[in-house]
Amino acid sequence: MKLPEHISPEQWQRAKAIADSRETPCLVIDLDNIRQKYTQLVQGFDYARVFYAVKANPADEVIALLAQLGSNFDIASTYELDKVMKHGVEPARMSFGNTIKKARDIRYFHDKGVRLYATDSEADLRNIAEQAPGSKVYIRVLTEGSEGADWPLSRKFGCNPEMAVELAVLARDLGLLPWGLSFHVGSQQRDIDVWDGAIAKVKVIFERLQTEYGIGLKMINMGGGFPASYLHKANEFAVYVQEITRFLKEDFGDDLPEIILEPGRSLVGDAGILVSEVVLIARKSATALERWVFTDVGKFNGLIETLDEAIKYPLASERDDDPAAEFEEVILAGPTCDSVDIMYESYRYKLPLSLEMGDRLYWFSTGAYTTSYSSVEFNGFPPLKYYVV
Ligand SMILES: Cc1ncc(COP(=O)(O)O)c(C=O)c1O
Repeated sequence: MKLPEHISPEQWQRAKAIADSRETPCLVIDLDNIRQKYTQLVQGFDYARVFYAVKANPADEVIALLAQLGSNFDIASTYELDKVMKHGVEPARMSFGNTIKKARDIRYFHDKGVRLYATDSEADLRNIAEQAPGSKVYIRVLTEGSEGADWPLSRKFGCNPEMAVELAVLARDLGLLPWGLSFHVGSQQRDIDVWDGAIAKVKVIFERLQTEYGIGLKMINMGGGFPASYLHKANEFAVYVQEITRFLKEDFGDDLPEIILEPGRSLVGDAGILVSEVVLIARKSATALERWVFTDVGKFNGLIETLDEAIKYPLASERDDDPAAEFEEVILAGPTCDSVDIMYESYRYKLPLSLEMGDRLYWFSTGAYTTSYSSVEFNGFPPLKYYVV
């Protein structure tokens, strides 16, 4: 089978050895691939601390590996906190990165020893001051330019720069430590220049706080946004490192504040191969030009990021190698009785005409935001299973 460039024959063999004897759909996660990505990340950004965004793939084996490699963890809820703590990760290696949180959940984090919190609103900041007194806070700033992101996060999170200044001052007045600023340029961000604008914005807020209020911020959290290898090409990771480091140096010189990264997708995406089975192949009329291919994985059990056809995974079938194979465009849909459950209709994947029901399809780079987004029981289908190699 013609593998995507980023999948080594070894990773493919390892995944297949596990998947061949398993029921579909299932995700096979290759820990070696995650290890390589982590090493590449910490070698590239050797001046930064990595806080893995657990939401991307909360598998115990993934958390254990990253904990062992020395990663810190960006946590979104008390459930994630419990899960990561189970692996013996000290609270000093965690942040509560969700800006939307209950007061009692802040208290829970504080009781467990976490002292680093994200915020972007006055109400949340006041809750942090009450429930986690004396903690470090970083303020999330809205970023523009999320058009380059295949999975934008834009308007829901962050505040404008003026409010960021006000919140930092209020944090100090409430007895908290105004520690830094954060931004997220949008997930699967393919336009590297967006980091330039975000860093410049952060620099202005740093300077205003120093000169007008005597507050010296110490940290920038640059979020995630680094790409996994999907069909829409992104730059090599080394180019991200080179350019983002240049933007930082241009604005902050050699005197960089502490830099935090919160990658999810780029660390675990390429490690996953999702294996599914063709349930049905159909035409809607005798003269219809295209076939519908229904698979046992769909939007509700792993592929929710195909909403609006945002993420396009590399896809292969077991008949691709047939030398006589003729390929034809298909519409790809999932197994449930909800019409939203169509993965690709505008974008047309080509699959062999010889494809048959019962054949296996392989979805590459599916290690991020698949198992964690999978529904519990829609149409009775269980959450996406995963196996680890
Ligand atoms: C606060 C925060 N940090 C990090 C991430 C991870 O981003 P990515 O998967 O693009 O690396 C997310 C993703 O939603 C996030 O919300």
